[in-house]
Amino acid sequence: MLKGRVVVDRDFAIGDLDRRLFGSFVEHLGRCVYGGIYEPGHPTADEQGFRQDVLDLTRELGVTIMRYPGGNFVSGYNWQDGVGPKEDRPVKLDLAWFTTETNQFGTNEFIDWCRKAEIEPMMAVNLGTAGPDEARNLVEYCNHPGGTYWSDLRRSHGYEEPHAINFWCLGNEMDGPWQICEKTAQEYGRVAKEAAKVMRWTSEGLTLTACGSSSREMSTYGEWEYSVLDEVFDHVDFISLHQYFLNNENETDRFFTHIDNLDCFITEVVAIADAVAAKRRSDKKIMLSLDEWNVWYKARSGTDMKQENWPEAPSLLEEVYNFEDALVVGGALITMINHADRLKTGCLAQLVNVIGPIMTETGGPAWRQTIFHPFAQAANLAKGRVLRLISDTPTFSAGEFDKAPLLLSSAIHNPETGQLTILALNRSPTEEMEFAMHMRGFPDMVILEAFELHHADLKATNTKDNPDEVAPSQHESCKLAEELTATLKPLSWNVFVLKDAN
Ligand code: AHR
Repeated sequence: MLKGRVVVDRDFAIGDLDRRLFGSFVEHLGRCVYGGIYEPGHPTADEQGFRQDVLDLTRELGVTIMRYPGGNFVSGYNWQDGVGPKEDRPVKLDLAWFTTETNQFGTNEFIDWCRKAEIEPMMAVNLGTAGPDEARNLVEYCNHPGGTYWSDLRRSHGYEEPHAINFWCLGNEMDGPWQICEKTAQEYGRVAKEAAKVMRWTSEGLTLTACGSSSREMSTYGEWEYSVLDEVFDHVDFISLHQYFLNNENETDRFFTHIDNLDCFITEVVAIADAVAAKRRSDKKIMLSLDEWNVWYKARSGTDMKQENWPEAPSLLEEVYNFEDALVVGGALITMINHADRLKTGCLAQLVNVIGPIMTETGGPAWRQTIFHPFAQAANLAKGRVLRLISDTPTFSAGEFDKAPLLLSSAIHNPETGQLTILALNRSPTEEMEFAMHMRGFPDMVILEAFELHHADLKATNTKDNPDEVAPSQHESCKLAEELTATLKPLSWNVFVLKDAN
């Protein structure tokens, strides 16, 4: 049997885990908004048309922050189309997804939905067809108390109190040829800097994210981050990363190295951000926001995105995730958590129907996809300080990685509750792993809960008729004596929750 041994020490921490790591994303794309979170007439819809079954699953998922309204959509979006009386809102073409946008859902509905879900909003501004002026007007509309044109317009729409939105993204994927009004790094850096200035002058203390590369595979990757940060360094808090884990063509080991690729991506962007700081002799730490990530099967070519006849809310990018995808999502979460010192926000893209952990039928039920489970367990159980693990693990070789660890793990300690959560992924396709964790500084722990996510069929999925085919079960082999030990099944995601007995 394989052996995976880990040492953890209560006093050796990577950093505090920012709860915003467990964010998600709602874009005007396909059935994410219409037929996803918003469906007036659905049996569970409330008076605002918000599906309660989706709201309940969103709460269960443990999402902390929600990015909106795009994505590619935001680069052609006029936010004014989505506010005010619904009957007056214009119907427009959306050039990001070649669909028709009715604007029946907009900024105020999104904020109401977030409040009901108890989720912090993360707003993106249009730096494609629009620019600093529209961005600062939106900030004034949302955050200024009153007595000005834009803030009084909000009040006239029934929102007396400001929305007080703190977290803003300066555009979306501006390096991508598919983006409406893509830009060079220099062009984007300039406009992002000027937008950041006027947005912050309008509303003090905003947290701002500049666009990084659309993926580690972009030809401009690295240079883009450096040039953009060189321009906006003094005006932003975050740089974004986007990474989708594409196509498993029946090469499971290679598919798993998307996790290692993500690890490299994060490490490299930290290095670039710090190089920009070093040039300035600055001790400012630019933080990272992985504000789009997930498994995504579909090829990302422009033609794949193009729809015929401008449909309204068509079924787009509705990936049905399998067990294998859930393992990759779990591994990505472990990697993200282990970068807690610099990676402070993350958005699983997207929330519902469109590459989402939640799936719905229009007029019908909502259910949990396979990837829902590792995300929900991490989001609900990983709270506190991420501890630095020393791991001794067998390795495998796939893709560009010669020595990828078969065991991936993280440990999160909450000093307030005394809870220690351990997440562990066995990436061996064939062998069980004897897992042992030596715990220093935790003399009186007891096991509170232990779960595993495992299925004999890597391609097993959850469907409307069989929604719990892939779901966590109790871990049967977990023991705590001198060490925490457990047998990790081949290709399994495991969660152990310990608590201070005193
Ligand atoms: O999440 C789907 C799309 O992926 C987003 O609109 C875009 O930002 C990315 O390319």
